[in-house]
Amino acid sequence: MVHTAFLPVLLVSALCNVAPTIAEKQTRPNVVFILADDQDAKLNSLDYMPNVQELLVDQGTHFKSHYCTVAWCCPSRVSMWTGKAAHNTNVTNVETPYGGYPKFVQEGLNDNWVPVWLQSEGYQTYYTGKLMNAHNVVNYFQPFPKGFTGSDFLLDPNTYNYINPIFQRNKLPPVYHTNDYSTDLVRKKALAFMDDAIKKPDSPFFVTVAPIAPHSDYTVTLNIGGDPPYGVNITPPVSADEYKDLFPDAAVPRGPSFNPDVPSGVDWIAELPQLSAENITYNDLLYRQRLRALQSVDEIVKDVVDKLEQAGILDNTYIFYSSDNGYHIGQHRLAPGKGCGFEEDINVPLVVRGPGVPAGKVITRSTTHTDLAPTWWQILGIPLREDFDGMPIPLTDAGLTELEESKRAKEHIQIEFWSKSNPQEYNQDQGLEVNSTYKGIRIVSEDYGFYYAVWCSNSHELYDMKSDPSQMTNLYAASNSTATTSYNTSTPLGRPLSALTARLDALILTLKTCKGATACTEPWNTLLPGEDVYTLAEAMDEKYDDYFAGLPKVEFDRCEEGYIADAEGPVWTEQLEWSEGDFVGRSLSEAGWDVNMLARKGRHALNRP
Ligand SMILES: *[C@@H]1O[C@H](CO)[C@@H](O)[C@H](O)[C@H]1NC(C)=O
Ligand SMILES: *[C@@H]1O[C@H](CO)[C@@H](O)[C@H](O)[C@H]1NC(C)=O
Ligand SMILES: *[C@@H]1O[C@H](CO)[C@@H](O)[C@H](O)[C@H]1NC(C)=O
Ligand SMILES: *[C@@H]1O[C@H](CO)[C@@H](O)[C@H](O)[C@H]1NC(C)=O
Ligand SMILES: *[C@@H]1O[C@H](CO)[C@@H](O)[C@H](O)[C@H]1NC(C)=O
Repeated sequence: MVHTAFLPVLLVSALCNVAPTIAEKQTRPNVVFILADDQDAKLNSLDYMPNVQELLVDQGTHFKSHYCTVAWCCPSRVSMWTGKAAHNTNVTNVETPYGGYPKFVQEGLNDNWVPVWLQSEGYQTYYTGKLMNAHNVVNYFQPFPKGFTGSDFLLDPNTYNYINPIFQRNKLPPVYHTNDYSTDLVRKKALAFMDDAIKKPDSPFFVTVAPIAPHSDYTVTLNIGGDPPYGVNITPPVSADEYKDLFPDAAVPRGPSFNPDVPSGVDWIAELPQLSAENITYNDLLYRQRLRALQSVDEIVKDVVDKLEQAGILDNTYIFYSSDNGYHIGQHRLAPGKGCGFEEDINVPLVVRGPGVPAGKVITRSTTHTDLAPTWWQILGIPLREDFDGMPIPLTDAGLTELEESKRAKEHIQIEFWSKSNPQEYNQDQGLEVNSTYKGIRIVSEDYGFYYAVWCSNSHELYDMKSDPSQMTNLYAASNSTATTSYNTSTPLGRPLSALTARLDALILTLKTCKGATACTEPWNTLLPGEDVYTLAEAMDEKYDDYFAGLPKVEFDRCEEGYIADAEGPVWTEQLEWSEGDFVGRSLSEAGWDVNMLARKGRHALNRP
């Protein structure tokens, strides 16, 4: 497939092999990226942010099917800041040894990420707020995060303490603030950085503003001599004083998945008890506190737009608004938290305004956080890197119209997750250990939609997102359950469920180790090279049934908290590619292939039968 999106970039780069002149630099656009923390797209929080609505949604484009690929702060942020899937950064958790700031450094990413690359392209780079987990008062200089003209980071243990934050500026020691509201400080620091940047008009800037709202408040207390030597008190976010009484009647939307009478989800989720009235009261309070805390983020949006306007550069600056991951509150009986593959957790806000970005447009085609770095490269006129796993999101009226109207737009979002910690942030005290490592795939199309996942317990889930957008009926269980033998296994694609699961499984199989934009964005070309197949509907053709049925199935050998390759079952090899002569009319195993051995050994250990 021809990457039409690449063409303008390649042309521009061919013409600009010499360093840009000052005149060229002056016309290069700026970016301000406002990144919230744990903000949902599905629980309507954006509706309570008037400045986001007036200044971004109405003046820009709203991407309603934007997804994070790992619903957890640190892995998600590292993916965003490298343009790579988590399986390619191997920063898969929030804490060491599998994640957090030390793992980011250990993987060499501090030398290889967006701010460093942008600086080498002549951009001034500024960042204030939360960078990532496990970036703390002990390790903040070991080494300092690279690539910033100016930085002022929130640090652990007080990253999520709304009124006693710790900030660490450039290479200075940390500063402890007492009774100073975190989001207001982030706003002031961001505006001051913008002033610095605007004073140097010969180079464009990229400013990131990363407040913690609407993340919960964590107050860390020392417990010297104890095990662990500290405690964390988790409470709803604290708002600025002036917003503390807003939205007295707001409550978690009571959709079908909110505290359902019949449980829903894989193994451990299907066993959760129903929430008590007391739990629900608390959920609603948490929901209101999140909206109230977000008001200070909404102020940031207004002040940023005002500053750009006063400096006369609003027309040459892109503003991106997003969140690292989403959040669930009471859906599927879950205590508040993130980390599941449910829509509340993986679907996140993305609104963009800027030069040429259509105003008031809503896009429903799938886009992901791994597409953000390629998108910045495209709008800033930098040639795309080969190690990007995503593709630029078009930001022009023509490009977006083409995307919306294309019958063959990218439909899939690869979802992955590794953890043993409980995805219910507010249910930690129950000592529930949850193996929450899984591989998922979300399919977004005009005509159909699915979410399919295989957990490390080898439990499966499959939801028909068109007829069951609340994800209440796990079709995988239904199709196998003796209790529901009357279940109609025909899918909206008009084929048996087994034909559908075989395709979805094959997608996960190729994507879970994909590297690079071609492999990660064109999985059907990997599976069916040379065939004219771009969509799930096209891949459902009966002539491919035996091929897909014969491919190794996604499964885990055991549960791990990080990306340990030998725990993750069969992997894709090119030897599994479909080819007309080999596979039409007979399955791989009929053809004499030991598919599991084949996939585990890789192509060099092969003996074709
Ligand atoms: C429900 O409330 C009880 C009592 O406060 C608490 O222990 C439990 O963790 C809560 N459960 C959920 C799912 O929020
Ligand atoms: C149904 O269950 C059988 C045996 O438990 C299993 O081998 C098979 O993969 C399952 N298939 C589906 C579509 O659930
Ligand atoms: C099952 O669903 C398909 C597609 O929606 C429909 O055409 C078919 O008649 C249904 N079969 C039964 C037995 O209800
Ligand atoms: C989690 O996975 C590990 C390794 O596969 C297993 O030993 C353990 O029993 C699992 N724990 C739960 C609660 O399922
Ligand atoms: C990812 O990192 C962990 C922890 O350092 C390491 O054990 C593992 O082998 C790495 N995974 C891959 C696929 O490189």
